[in-house]
Amino acid sequence: MKEVVLQKFAEVYGDTEGAQVYFAPGRVNMIGEHTDYNGGHVFPCALTIGTYGAARKRQDRKLRFYSMNFEHLGVLESSLDALRPDPQADWTNYPKGVIWAFGEKGMEVPVGMDILLNGNIPNGSGLSSSASVEVLTGFILRDLFGFEVSNQDLALIGQYSENHFNGVNCGIMDQFAIAMGKEGHAIFLDTADLSYEYAPIRLENAKIVIACSNKKRGLGDSKYNERRSECETALAELQKECHINSLGELSGEEFEKARGSIESETRRRRAKHAVYENQRTIQAVQALKNNDVAAFGQLMNASHVSLRDDYEVTGIELDTLVEEAWKVEGVIGSRMTGAGFGGCTVSIVKDEAIDAFTARVGAAYRDKVGYAADFYVVEIGDGPRRL
Ligand code: GLA
Repeated sequence: MKEVVLQKFAEVYGDTEGAQVYFAPGRVNMIGEHTDYNGGHVFPCALTIGTYGAARKRQDRKLRFYSMNFEHLGVLESSLDALRPDPQADWTNYPKGVIWAFGEKGMEVPVGMDILLNGNIPNGSGLSSSASVEVLTGFILRDLFGFEVSNQDLALIGQYSENHFNGVNCGIMDQFAIAMGKEGHAIFLDTADLSYEYAPIRLENAKIVIACSNKKRGLGDSKYNERRSECETALAELQKECHINSLGELSGEEFEKARGSIESETRRRRAKHAVYENQRTIQAVQALKNNDVAAFGQLMNASHVSLRDDYEVTGIELDTLVEEAWKVEGVIGSRMTGAGFGGCTVSIVKDEAIDAFTARVGAAYRDKVGYAADFYVVEIGDGPRRL
């Protein structure tokens, strides 16, 4: 891939003088969905697929961007003096946002850059291609300009730029999973204080399979922000009765006692999801430590039911993929992953069942939804690096 990226870099920008090549992964969340902005736990892992990028410094203040995933857009130009979100700037709003965020944190990027990206995360799949671009950009800035930031800082800066430059009120999970990824491990992260632990994922005779619904998120971002504010209102209502800083601090039992103080039935269901999903995530990691992959799978399934019925972020596409998966023998667990409203599902599938899984779920999906889903057997990989 390094050669492919450098060759294109030379074609687009004339030569490769001074260019370095980098990689940042995508991520999949195993369990702990819509808990990261509620002070709860998440359990994502970085993937071996992700975003490759070549970059070099320029003498002037110009920024030039090219993506091999959006070749029709050609070279998109900007400048260090024009770091504002701009619909015309398309995907380059992500790297521009990170350059802007470094400036906001007192790390002014001194000169412009030529950047070329090539990602192998399916676009709009919900495997965090945008967070991957953000962390990659931060990594490039650190490497080219020597800024003193840790990988955890790269995650926080990526989230900051997504919140304040791109207008999506996302939590820390995606950027953290990508910046801190470790081969063969998922990250058990407490989003209340960013303490974390790596947990080995040992799936003897089984694999992680992603099913991509090919439904683009579209309205998803505004729905995402809506869920977030519903949780904030529910928390404020609960705080009249309990001394808590986040929904993640409540056990199921404590929630049941206090739930009456939430005035709307919808918000009660949203908060219920956040509380119980956090508990499920803690239990799931424990199950894994006990080598009880079957229990882990059951918790994944329960997570999906809660996201479907209480949090209402699934839709016919994700529900079909998951409900059909549950019918296939050899599927240990299956759920939607990421923000929802489209995107993809994650399943743990026994090796001998993978062919039947993709055939049966794929056919049922096409029948019901009218177009094809895509399937990927994925591996858990490391965080960002220079190649
Ligand atoms: C998106 C956000 C994350 C997280 C998930 C839902 O991926 O970027 O911060 O909230 O949705 O778990």
